[in-house]
Amino acid sequence: MGFFDRTVAGSVKFMPKALVRKVAMHYVAGETLEDAIEQSRQLNEAGCMVTIDLLGEAIETEDEANASADTYLKVLDAIDGAGVDGNVSIKPTHFGLSIRRELFEANVRRVADRARELGNFVRIDMEDTPYTDDTLAVFRALREEGYDHVGTVLQTMLRRTLDDVKALEDLSPSFRICKGVYREPEELAWQEYDEVNGSFLEILDYTLPRRAFYIGIATHDDPVVEGAEKLIAEHGLTPDQYEFQMLLGVRPEVRDALLERGHRVRIYVPFGTSWYAYCVRRLKENPKYAGYITKDVLRNPTMLFGGKK
Ligand code: FDA
Repeated sequence: MGFFDRTVAGSVKFMPKALVRKVAMHYVAGETLEDAIEQSRQLNEAGCMVTIDLLGEAIETEDEANASADTYLKVLDAIDGAGVDGNVSIKPTHFGLSIRRELFEANVRRVADRARELGNFVRIDMEDTPYTDDTLAVFRALREEGYDHVGTVLQTMLRRTLDDVKALEDLSPSFRICKGVYREPEELAWQEYDEVNGSFLEILDYTLPRRAFYIGIATHDDPVVEGAEKLIAEHGLTPDQYEFQMLLGVRPEVRDALLERGHRVRIYVPFGTSWYAYCVRRLKENPKYAGYITKDVLRNPTMLFGGKK
């Protein structure tokens, strides 16, 4: 992680909020559910599926956790009402995991029940390692109760992940596989780019050929995309057996190339009023994103003034 990235990340709090907003809105659909639905419609028209995420993470009270879940009921209804091809992604701490595991579980269950009524799907995002065991335990409990339309996320930076994959294989799980966005200690996580990518491809090599898994390959990184495409071809997978996933506003040229080559792509569409806290927290957690964003702006200064692709 370079000095440049750390400096840009550290200086975000001194930047005019309006400027941060311009940059943030390239990666966020907007502040309202209507914004998220409109963005999702546009992405559907462009050939992508979506997953909608309400911004906001650790909350402090049970009421706040319940309110997050209530909002997701509205998101599911809005997806259904608008005929959007999309599902939802939820964050464990946003649903109360940092307060009580039972609170988190009850809130996921409430949202998953509505999703079931509507024929939709709920993905439980993965946060940092203090929450990994509880998140996977709740995922297992729900799947064992027949919540087949609930999936979760595994991070290839964690040394434990291939073991988790194998331990959960009996559930025929739907996993999003991604590198992991949180800074984790060396004893728990690979630190080097090559190690994290090597782990990514090893996990794809294990999961893609096994019919027990449905895999969302969440990356914008060319070597991982290329490695995944090689495995997909080698194992003769058809496009309905996996999907690529990308974040809104990040490397749309890769997204378009994947669609062109016949893959399905799902875009993660965050929305909500917490975009400022979200940006600052993300940059503090992982200052390398400050570098990505700055490079994006330098390459494409119109992102400060125009819409997103
Ligand atoms: P890498 O970090 O090497 O980036 C490759 C290239 O992509 C960069 O060079 C840059 O050009 C571009 N890029 C990547 N991220 C960018 C960004 N934020 N802004 C601008 N440019 C960027 N993590 C997690 O811990 N838990 C989770 O639940 C999820 N969920 C999730 C869903 C989806 C759909 C995606 C795509 C990602 C996540 N992540 C996540 C984040 C993930 O763990 C990882 O941090 C990012 O995807 C970046 O990793 P890449 O594989 O893109 O590689």
